[in-house]
Amino acid sequence: MPSLIAENLNFSYDSPILENVTLSLNAGETLSIMGVSGSGKSTLLHILSGFLKPQSGIVKLLDKDVYQLPQEELLVLRRDEIGIIFQSHYLFLGFSAEENLEVASLLSGQKIDQELLSLFGILEVLPLNIGSLSGGQQQRLSIARILTKKPKIIFADEPTGNLDRETAFNVMQLLFDYVKFTQSSLVFVTHDPILAHKALHAYRLEHTSLKPLK
Ligand SMILES: Nc1ncnc2c1ncn2[C@@H]1O[C@H](COP(=O)(O)OP(=O)(O)OP(=O)(O)O)[C@@H](O)[C@H]1O
Ligand SMILES: [Mg+2]
Repeated sequence: MPSLIAENLNFSYDSPILENVTLSLNAGETLSIMGVSGSGKSTLLHILSGFLKPQSGIVKLLDKDVYQLPQEELLVLRRDEIGIIFQSHYLFLGFSAEENLEVASLLSGQKIDQELLSLFGILEVLPLNIGSLSGGQQQRLSIARILTKKPKIIFADEPTGNLDRETAFNVMQLLFDYVKFTQSSLVFVTHDPILAHKALHAYRLEHTSLKPLK
């Protein structure tokens, strides 16, 4: 059973952004999206993750028709099963790194995974206030925070955009490992063709359509 199905998505602001976009993703699989700035990558992620209703088309997450679900069920689905790493990450400023993780842990009822934090190289910054972390440390923390809730589907919008290439590759590898071991799914946006090609399904969003990446 695919964990994500999108069929014939259409979405416009003033002009068309997406026309008849169709994709599907199974458990344990990864999908990358490239495309120039303004091509609609973030818009597509927002639609796939249940935040933005398309003008037409269907999105199914874990066999649930997202835009037909009662609001309450959609909230529960998003809270329990879906992990979203946005382009700008939302850490709670004024709190420590550890407190930010504790919030995620409380909300999801899942324990903080010390091994994960060690793999992300952020164990030593746990006591520090968010404001004193580097951009890259904040980004790794925000990804670790998302994984703390053990999502079944992860949507990531340029998750490694602030990181140097080596750290970016390491962090993406951790995400890929997570997907493999937990048989979850990952959809990510990237500007790096090498990272894009590491995904099982690699696409470019261009002129309102998804095309296989060459
Ligand atoms: N709320 C909005 N209202 C009107 N137009 C919008 C809105 N959000 C985005 N757009 C427009 O839709 C288009 C696609 O935006 P989107 O953010 O999806 O692009 P993107 O591919 O993610 O770009 P980037 O690589 O810069 O993040 C852009 O032309 C943008 O200006
Ligand atoms: Mg974007």
